[in-house]
Amino acid sequence: MRPIGWLLAILVLPASVGAGPLVPFDSVPVPGRESDSPALVELGKQFFFDRRLSGDGTMSCGTCHDPDMGFSDGLDISLNYPTTRNWRNSPTLINTALQKSLFHDGRAATLEEQALFPMMSAFEMNQNLDYLEEEIRAVPEYEAAFAVAFGDPDVTRERIAKAIAAFERTLISRGAPLDRFLAGDEAALSPEAQQGYQLFVGKGNCSQCHFGPNLMDDRFHALMVPENPEHLADPRITATRRFVAKLYGFEDFRTLDEDPGRYLITKEQKDWKAFKTPTLRDVAKTAPYMHNGVFATLDQVIDFFAAGGGENNRALQPVLLDAQERQQLRSFLEEGLTGAEIVIDYPKIP
Ligand code: HEC
Ligand code: HEC
Repeated sequence: MRPIGWLLAILVLPASVGAGPLVPFDSVPVPGRESDSPALVELGKQFFFDRRLSGDGTMSCGTCHDPDMGFSDGLDISLNYPTTRNWRNSPTLINTALQKSLFHDGRAATLEEQALFPMMSAFEMNQNLDYLEEEIRAVPEYEAAFAVAFGDPDVTRERIAKAIAAFERTLISRGAPLDRFLAGDEAALSPEAQQGYQLFVGKGNCSQCHFGPNLMDDRFHALMVPENPEHLADPRITATRRFVAKLYGFEDFRTLDEDPGRYLITKEQKDWKAFKTPTLRDVAKTAPYMHNGVFATLDQVIDFFAAGGGENNRALQPVLLDAQERQQLRSFLEEGLTGAEIVIDYPKIP
């Protein structure tokens, strides 16, 4: 089921605008947001930027989800705990509150559940959560903040995660030119970006998967994105991949030399190398692209889709796009989908 909000939005849109399945976002509510108190959000923001959350005190969530880099880290394969390597690209946190599942393979269902993964992950923050609870409890300012946000000062990992999730629900990209365009303001997009919009919802077939207010379908597709060559070259990445595969009960984890994607979670053949359709909101800020950052630019991504995706995929068909059309599509992605800047008032860490 898709959110009723945007179904309604489609129904009330005048027929002359928004001919495609994209809908303006500004009026769509953020699920869960109404019950987050300002005190909870503020506490979550402190945790998000607090390096205590990592075992060696060097990394906060904001290290790999940096507000100045579209809440990603600008690398093809994300940063890591010292001496290890990560294996996937750090996705933006913009609009994650609108997603039905999290991670490139969808292995977490809620932001609350998700937040504990990176803290515990051996190759991300590598923190012991029993220890973290004591570390936080020992800080009087945090104790006082828990009392305000939760009604009593008890510090638990679940409450830490709940606060972080509340902060993440505030990272919403609104006011993009696309939204004004869909609401009837034609001048909001340059003529070139308007052509790109037509290609996006028309011949390019992009809106088959990138639709709704968040330009995604909350589904997984095996596009057969090429492997990042670093994956084969670095034994530390091999170790990380096999470690995760072992955790998820992948039988032949010791010989696994590629990313199985959603298959890791479902063990269904159709999900082999399938990854979640990402939001395209603020996509101009979140290079490199795809689950493994294998494409450095939007031009490369567009060339990939125009060619009909990777080898032997069954999700995509080639689309004939000349150089001018590729440029128009890129203008639409860059210009049309960039929302108002999300300004972070950095918290004081106690
Ligand atoms: C060392 C880098 C690193 C750190 C630190 C880190 N993350 Fe991430 N984050 C990633 C990577 C890489 C992924 C994608 C992993 C995957 O899909 O398997 C990710 C995925 C996510 C997602 C899912 C987004 C989506 O679109 O599915 C959320 C939410 C998230 N991180 C929040 C956090 C929070 C909260 C913290 C702090 C508690 C944190 N991250 C710390 C690298 C990091
Ligand atoms: C069959 C569904 C489908 C169609 C059709 C589709 N996409 Fe995607 N798109 C995806 C999936 C799935 C990913 C993520 C793949 C990965 O992470 O390996 C993706 C990734 C992207 C990304 C990278 C975003 C990021 O943050 O990494 C961009 C940009 C993009 N698509 C644009 C387009 C454009 C432009 C078109 C039309 C020419 C298009 N897509 C058509 C499913 C689709």
